[in-house]
Amino acid sequence: MPSQPVAPSRMVHVACIMDGNGRWANRRNLPRTEGHTEGEENLARLVRVAVKRNVGWLTVFGFSTENWVRPRGEVRHILGLHKKLFGRVAELNELNVRIQWMGRPFDSPEARTPKYVQRAIRKAIRDTAGNTGMVLTVAFDYGSHAELVHAAQRAAQQGPVDEAAIERNLYLPELPRVDVLVRTSGELRISNFMLWQSAGSEVYFTEKPWPEFDAAELDAALLLVR
Ligand code: FPP
Repeated sequence: MPSQPVAPSRMVHVACIMDGNGRWANRRNLPRTEGHTEGEENLARLVRVAVKRNVGWLTVFGFSTENWVRPRGEVRHILGLHKKLFGRVAELNELNVRIQWMGRPFDSPEARTPKYVQRAIRKAIRDTAGNTGMVLTVAFDYGSHAELVHAAQRAAQQGPVDEAAIERNLYLPELPRVDVLVRTSGELRISNFMLWQSAGSEVYFTEKPWPEFDAAELDAALLLVR
């Protein structure tokens, strides 16, 4: 059945756990890395759709604090894809999209983000800072537990630790609560993603792997928050 485009009546925050790149590739007898490449291409397509649907904030789980244990070649490939994504400044500017990043601070003892990725992230943030449309946040070297420990430690240095103090010390305190959390590829789990920010959010699970998460899928997720 053709899907009806959904234009939410208010600006919403959609957060995506982009799962299933590897399975998408396996089914086609392709290397896993091809699945990630297609996943990055699909993200670029989805950003265009989300802008058309008037989504206010799109946040995606690009690389977790746990993902460093993957085979070295796969990690290198995913790092390269982040460089590519953060290099899409012309597209982002054409769409009036502001890109930002959240994750373990680059100077924290556990952080492992290579300098070339740090540079790409900083440059894209700077070069899209003036855009006033959708905010695209890429979670890279991100884990909710690490974020909450970081927030609690900082809050404790400032005074009594209450909810407001934790909120003020999240990596991106200005990011609004998640309205709908998406997970692709049939996994009915949330993992270590935005546990604080998604309290109370709707959850949209789909069997489709991330490279196939298209406009109809986004519309189905947005129906939950219209
Ligand atoms: C899940 O697929 C995806 C990831 C581990 C993260 C990488 C995501 C991308 C490359 C897509 C978006 C690109 C950027 C640059 C943000 P999986 O390997 O866990 O798939 P599987 O569960 O089928 O093995």
